[in-house]
Amino acid sequence: MDNQISRRNFIKAAGAVAGVLVATRFNPRAYAANEKVSLASIGVGNQGTFHLQNGLGKAANLKVVAVCDVYSGNRETAAQLVGPECRLYADYKELLDKEKLDGVVIATPFYTHYPIVMDCLDKGIHVFCEKTMCQTIDQCRDVVKKCNDTGLFVQVGHQRRYNPKYNKALWLMHNKSILGRVNHMTAQWHRNSAWRKPVPTKLSAEDLKFIKDPERHFNWRLYQELSGGLMTELATHQLDVANWIMGGPPARVTGLGGINYWRDGRDVDDNVSLVYEWDIDSSMSGYKVIKKRDDHQDESIDLPYSVAMTYSSICANSKMNYSEHIYGDQAAFDLSEGDCRFFPDAVWNAEQRSIAEAAEAAANAEKGKSGKKKHGKTKDTRLPGSAAALGLPLEVYTDAKKRKTKYDPTWPNLIQFERFANDIMTKGTPKANQTVGLHAAIAGLKGIEALSKRGTVEIDPALSQFDFTPPDAGLYEEYDGPIPGQKKKRFGLKPNTSAAKA
Ligand SMILES: NC(=O)c1ccc[n+]([C@@H]2O[C@H](COP(=O)([O-])OP(=O)(O)OC[C@H]3O[C@@H](n4cnc5c(N)ncnc54)[C@H](O)[C@@H]3O)[C@@H](O)[C@H]2O)c1
Repeated sequence: MDNQISRRNFIKAAGAVAGVLVATRFNPRAYAANEKVSLASIGVGNQGTFHLQNGLGKAANLKVVAVCDVYSGNRETAAQLVGPECRLYADYKELLDKEKLDGVVIATPFYTHYPIVMDCLDKGIHVFCEKTMCQTIDQCRDVVKKCNDTGLFVQVGHQRRYNPKYNKALWLMHNKSILGRVNHMTAQWHRNSAWRKPVPTKLSAEDLKFIKDPERHFNWRLYQELSGGLMTELATHQLDVANWIMGGPPARVTGLGGINYWRDGRDVDDNVSLVYEWDIDSSMSGYKVIKKRDDHQDESIDLPYSVAMTYSSICANSKMNYSEHIYGDQAAFDLSEGDCRFFPDAVWNAEQRSIAEAAEAAANAEKGKSGKKKHGKTKDTRLPGSAAALGLPLEVYTDAKKRKTKYDPTWPNLIQFERFANDIMTKGTPKANQTVGLHAAIAGLKGIEALSKRGTVEIDPALSQFDFTPPDAGLYEEYDGPIPGQKKKRFGLKPNTSAAKA
């Protein structure tokens, strides 16, 4: 927690303190120096295996002591990754009864998250649960309440919250106002595939005890009863980024979608287009005061305003892939899990230059009268053509001063599990905590409602309010480098242990 900050820490000190006090009912045991937290991995399909390979398997402060999956094929593959001491289970309830655990990592399908999360919390175990947190907003709220009652936490798999580049972008936006006032966002997740998985032809008798309908078990993503489709499988990651920037969930959403290409028996949309809108006031981290830019603007420029985000996800063209684009009046960010870029706005910079030049000319005229001439120092801060088009890369390094060990895209997965284990040991607050999970789910699930209505859905602010203070959903890492575009200074990320180990 030391280097995590949030606007709420500045503007709602009392709330932030209350947020910290939430965890007082959970009494963590004392961990010996170099002790590792004991975790079990429940659900080791694609994502569970990815975690074992890239996060859980590499983090130094945790060990995976047990693995659970209802499908023996995936259980056995996972066993090979974890090693012979790891105990294997088909039934997660048996695992929870038999194992002494500090935490669990849940990477089962969406429709199973709620019961497994609640059972783990009932056993007094901290949870990492893959996104999207739960199938309904009521279930998500139950999770937030249960965490408050028990003093445990649920960290949700919105791994961008642990991405050093995204953290740097958040810090630059909130602490340096580098984009000015964000007034528009766009995001897309475009791929060109059916999203369908092969169904194993041979299932053991034990597998069939748990797997009643193999097609729906392995292709759960394609069926509304089991999945929120593109909205809960892809969009919530990007809606989470928008929530993080704006300071809470959106106020309304309009949507259109359908099944227009992959007519193969699925009942989730294969294309969605939505417009989200956040209502911004001065209590939210997205709020930025602006100065008058022309004489026609009146005093209402500082009143609450709204920010829209257009969103699309399609399954029959991959050109734009996936990324989020954040537009401020002074500059823009293109954010993605690979490359993140900063684009100073040419019009804004030209405007600032002419203001500076006019001020300089006025000063010279003034000094001319007194016989002294001030020489022009105004610099053109616009980027040269190619740089303006391509933007400046938002680099991060483990050692900012020496520009050593450049960003590796596997860091966020490793960092999220190192932090998960560390927060268990230190009674910390995860950045991607249960409040973050709730806010992302609200955005995604209300999006589904808008799509089925083919219209607009208002989002009641009460859905994210409680009669206690839930953990802060706006935490990000402190960044100690200079800002992009200031060539003389280096910019990097404050070294941290996670990145250093990667
Ligand atoms: N954070 C990310 O970027 C990201 C990426 C992909 C998937 N995910 C999430 O990870 C989760 C799993 O997705 P996936 O792609 O690995 O799916 P998958 O179908 O490949 O794997 C799910 C596994 O869970 C097992 N399982 C199902 N029900 C179970 C139960 N009751 N108990 C134990 N095991 C059970 C299945 O047999 C399977 O092995 C989903 O919530 C998904 O949204 C997150």
